[in-house]
Amino acid sequence: MHPGVLHRRFLSDLSTSLFSFVLPLLPTSEELTIKEEVRTLIEKLIKTIEPSARLLSFGSSCNSFGLRNSDMDLVVLIDDPEAALDPSTFVAMIGDLLERETNFDVKPLPKARIPIIKLNLAASPGLPFGIACDIGIENRLAIENTRLLLTYATIDPARVRTLVLFLKVWAKRRRINSPYRGTLSSYGITLMVLFFLVHVKQPPVLPNLQRIAPVRPITEEEMMLEGRNVYFFDDVEMLRQEWSSINFESVGELLIDFFRYFSHDFQFNTMVLSLRAGPLTKESKGWTNDIDVGGLNEMARDRNRLCIEDPFEITYNVARTVTKDGLYTIRGEFMRATRILTQRPERAVLALAELCR
Ligand code: GTP
Ligand code: MG
Repeated sequence: MHPGVLHRRFLSDLSTSLFSFVLPLLPTSEELTIKEEVRTLIEKLIKTIEPSARLLSFGSSCNSFGLRNSDMDLVVLIDDPEAALDPSTFVAMIGDLLERETNFDVKPLPKARIPIIKLNLAASPGLPFGIACDIGIENRLAIENTRLLLTYATIDPARVRTLVLFLKVWAKRRRINSPYRGTLSSYGITLMVLFFLVHVKQPPVLPNLQRIAPVRPITEEEMMLEGRNVYFFDDVEMLRQEWSSINFESVGELLIDFFRYFSHDFQFNTMVLSLRAGPLTKESKGWTNDIDVGGLNEMARDRNRLCIEDPFEITYNVARTVTKDGLYTIRGEFMRATRILTQRPERAVLALAELCR
């Protein structure tokens, strides 16, 4: 058979295999129901301390990039401006309350840089692996960036969700999704995929939501949250009607190209991935590695190895946890993945299994 025909057949096979790969890894409706029950229960308890408090989910439980047994990210928002509770005190109080009133394994961290409560729920029939849950206080930017990610996913769920979900699984299985061990957070990986679809692919698969003008004028005040510009175009109905990408590449083609781009083209030493603005130089952001670090430890020196700008907190490098060794491993994994997918494997499903081995 002609090599071109074989290649096209492999790509279509790869796309089908990607869909079948992620499908059984999605959370079950039972899991989602239990998580929602847990959220409601904890919210009710927290309201006994502060009636104006609300408990919201963020992260993968509600950005559509959740996998089965993903952790649960929760945040307490206090609506009453009179409620003078500082986060450390509040975390300690909620910790005591949950210890008294529930049988969760509770670990309040009131003294941490960002005070949180860590919870672990034991395994049960609907939740064979239990749940790990973090509760933060007043992190309103996280709610906004969760909404931004969800809006991107909603524009083209078949391609965007499949790619992000597969790459999250791949990164976990290849052990490059571990901020505490010098590699990437899931949030960082998701931003890399969206950057690729908005700024690298030509024609783009997704529009830049932070650069589409609002339909009606909005005030500076509406745009700002905690001193950050959190505007993005979020009218999903209108996006569905008005935006149609003229990029028709299949999810399989996009995956190969994603690996190829980060193996060979992206200049990790000098460039920053910015979903908001496209590729930027580290120099323009002052995120250079080779600043004089006399006296500082290795961790400080490593802070800007891989640079991913947060969409709203633009002075914040989401990939600051990535060390020199971590980046070496990550780049090695991109190259390995490119090799596996471009060596004309016989069957896509086997290539995916090999990729995530
Ligand atoms: P899984 O838990 O692996 O399923 O993925 P996730 O999408 O929940 O990602 P993760 O747990 O890494 O992060 C959860 C949320 O926390 C993200 O959606 C962001 O809203 C927020 N977040 C995580 N890391 C950062 C960070 O470095 N900076 C900021 N600003 N927000 C972050
Ligand atoms: Mg999470």
